[in-house]
Amino acid sequence: MWLGQAGPPKGPTSSVFTAQTLNFCFNIPGFDGVEILAANGYLIDKLMKHEANNGSDQYGGSLDNRCRLALEVVEVVAEEIGADRTAIKLSPYDDYDGTIGDTTPEALGLYKANALTRLGILYLHVTEPRMTEVGDNYQTPRCLLPIKKAFKGTFIASGGYNKYDGDKAIEESYADLVSFGRLFLANPDLPKRFEIDAPLNKYDRSTFHI
Ligand SMILES: Cc1cc2nc3c(=O)[nH]c(=O)nc-3n(C[C@H](O)[C@H](O)[C@H](O)COP(=O)(O)O)c2cc1C
Repeated sequence: MWLGQAGPPKGPTSSVFTAQTLNFCFNIPGFDGVEILAANGYLIDKLMKHEANNGSDQYGGSLDNRCRLALEVVEVVAEEIGADRTAIKLSPYDDYDGTIGDTTPEALGLYKANALTRLGILYLHVTEPRMTEVGDNYQTPRCLLPIKKAFKGTFIASGGYNKYDGDKAIEESYADLVSFGRLFLANPDLPKRFEIDAPLNKYDRSTFHI
């Protein structure tokens, strides 16, 4: 679910989401559930990030306040369709275009993990920090374990994974599931390719819509 555009927040931070606003998707045939996109620099993410949210109302300032909208959206969705069909995606470490960061991303992730555990949602999906250059290689810092441990439900990790380190993450109980983005775009049959260890197509960033 996309709420708002990426980039710095433009308006006041007090927003109210009602069941009516969200109702349109609940009646889609074959609909399994909602993963609320509270990541990647979109509205809910911006409100949670201390560098992007300079509001002083009940949606700004303290961690409690900054996380309020995300939790309100989760509550509304869960009330409509059940907590067992409700999930959320977060990117506490992501600093979209250098203006939507948070100086205490782990604290933010832990706060959300604890609050979401209380709400009993189906899963929590979190993206890793962006890859960093180490010599000639890129490495994704693996930072999500404390958040995974705090969340008492299914935990999905994403961001920079391949088959090898996806399997490793599961084996080591670093995550319950791993999701793949760019590899899937270039390899729509990714599960089969992983299963038979087939070579992968390289993704072509110029074909991405963002
Ligand atoms: C072209 C493109 C579109 C994306 N669209 C979405 C989206 O609609 N919702 C979402 O939660 N993440 C979206 N993502 C982020 C991916 O789901 C994923 O978190 C990210 O690509 C990191 O995983 P990866 O390293 O396996 O690609 C998108 C990523 C790309 C490259």
